[in-house]
Amino acid sequence: MNTSPAAKLTRLRIRRGRPGVESAVVEYALPVDAAPSLLDGLRWIRAHIDDTLAFRYSCINANACKECMMRLDGKVVYACLAPLAADRTYEVEPLLNKPLVRDLVTEIAPAKERLTANGEPDDD
Ligand code: FES
Repeated sequence: MNTSPAAKLTRLRIRRGRPGVESAVVEYALPVDAAPSLLDGLRWIRAHIDDTLAFRYSCINANACKECMMRLDGKVVYACLAPLAADRTYEVEPLLNKPLVRDLVTEIAPAKERLTANGEPDDD
């Protein structure tokens, strides 16, 4: 991976936050060859810049788990399938219609499939 100053960069402006706390946008620059997809870029950021960034995925790029849904420039995408280009700045945000858990993680599981922190079924 080319991380020299001349490497082509892409920028992700990621809305971060948690319930009850005002969210903030944090911008990250990363080498575009490290991030053919948005999910690759998020994983690169977490490995190299900020290990507190929260996002969810499971199958990585099989388009099978549907857990990587988020918004990219206002459109709902699967992060593992959303390509990134060099010399671009993207806005990355959590889903609007689901409760926020943290950063890009939203509660996407149906209530009857969730457990509480005590391991009990979540009846909400
Ligand atoms: S990571 Fe499974 S569909 Fe994107």
